[in-house]
Formats: sequence, C-alpha cells, structure tokens
Amino acid sequence: MSQDPVWSAFAASYDELVPRLGCFRRMVDKAVAHVAGRATVVDAGCGTGLLFEPLLGVAERVVGFDPDATMRDRAAARRDRLPAAAAGRVSVLDGRAERFPDAIAEPVDAILLLNVLFNVADPDVVLAECARHLRPGGRLILTGPRQPPDLAAVIERSIVEWRAAGTYDDSHRAAIDQHLAAARRIVVEPGHMRHFFEPGALVERLRGHGLERVVAADGEDYFGQNFHVCVER
Ligand SMILES: C[S@@+](CC[C@H](N)C(=O)[O-])C[C@H]1O[C@@H](n2cnc3c(N)ncnc32)[C@H](O)[C@@H]1O
Repeated sequence: MSQDPVWSAFAASYDELVPRLGCFRRMVDKAVAHVAGRATVVDAGCGTGLLFEPLLGVAERVVGFDPDATMRDRAAARRDRLPAAAAGRVSVLDGRAERFPDAIAEPVDAILLLNVLFNVADPDVVLAECARHLRPGGRLILTGPRQPPDLAAVIERSIVEWRAAGTYDDSHRAAIDQHLAAARRIVVEPGHMRHFFEPGALVERLRGHGLERVVAADGEDYFGQNFHVCVER
C-alpha cells in the first residue's frame, strides 16, 4: 500500500516519546472509557499500536490497521510482546481509513480515529467509511488538532508535569529532541497537516454521515490544542 514517508521517519521517536506524555495518556484514558464493554474495536491509523494494551483491558478484540509499514511493523512487534492469550485478540492489518481492509467485513462495535483525520485527503470519505462499518449503537471516537499545533508548548507543559512528578531525566531530553526533529516535517512542510476541526464543527460534519448521537465533544486534549469527540450511530 502506498504510504507517506514522513510517518516512517516519525515512527521511532513517536514510539519513544509519545507514551510518556501525560496529555497522550489522558487522551487514551478518555478514548478507552468510551469503548468499555464493546466486543470489537477497530483502531484506524493505529500507528505503533500504543492503544492495543489499554483497549484489551476493556474490549474483547482489537483490529488495528495503518498504511505505513514502519508504524505497522512496530504495532505488530508491540502485539507480539503481549502474553499469547492477549496477542491472539489483536490483529494488525495494512490499510487506510478511506477504505477499510477487506478483513473487516462485519459491522464493528467501535472505531478509533485518534490523531489521523488531520492527515487524510478527504475527511468526508473517511467519516462515511467509518459510519458504514459501525453497527447501530456503535461508537466512533475521534481526536486531532483544532489548529496548527504548537508542539513546543505541549513539550514545555509536559516537562512541567514530569518535573512535578519527579520523573524527568536526561532520557526525556534526547527523546524530545529526536521527536521535535521528526515532527518538524509533519507540522511545517505543507501537505501533511491538512484538516483542523473545532469540536462543534466536527459534530456537525458527523451528523451529515448519520452519526447523530453525541456522547462527548470537547477541545481539551493536548492542553486545549486538540478536539476529542465521541459519537454513536
Ligand atoms: C499521529 S499518528 C497516530 C497513531 C495512533 N492513532 C495513536 O494515537 O498513537 C498518525 C497515524 O495515521 C496514519 N495515517 C495517515 N494517513 C492515514 C489514512 N489515510 N488512513 C489510516 N491511517 C493513516 C499514519 O501512518 C500514522 O501512523
């Protein structure tokens, strides 16, 4: 599957730094709470699979897919490090959100689209595909930037949190430098960050795809830089 090489360059530093960010962990906790008790959860644009383990704590089966081979390889490796019984409940597929992989044939109980929508060519194509794959009562959870992100501010505020918790050390600095260098291409070069949404505007857009019941919609993720929306079909 064709891929945007910026994501391959991003994979290592993403995997190293992002799970340490308090704002990322808070986003994950919110997203996971929305899918508690659901049988099958699709993690669309699963990246390096950072959501797999938390999702397995609340759902029976996780299907992650991503178009980028480097991200996906890390996701598969993360899955393979889980105990066998847990690993057997996770699939990692090649695919993109505009057209889900053929292996996702049945309607699913929940779909995550976390920090993916900003990068797709046409959000409406992706939202229509998500709506098509949700069973009635199924949930779609979306997060992403409300405006061009200020990553330096996210890092600064994260450092304050790490220092307050007494967990900040030199390994953070190295991971931060690598991540900011890799992220620069995505944030600064044109063509990667294409779409920004205020939560209310995204809710309206979702309504047009038949996803009308709003479970949550706020602009609080990532220190107020990102939207967090959950809708039910
Ligand atoms: C910022 S990462 C987020 C990864 C993961 N959702 C998370 O929250 O950790 C964005 C991911 O979206 C993937 N992506 C980009 N375009 C996509 C598309 N059209 N369909 C599905 N995934 C896509 C990238 O390959 C990358 O892994």
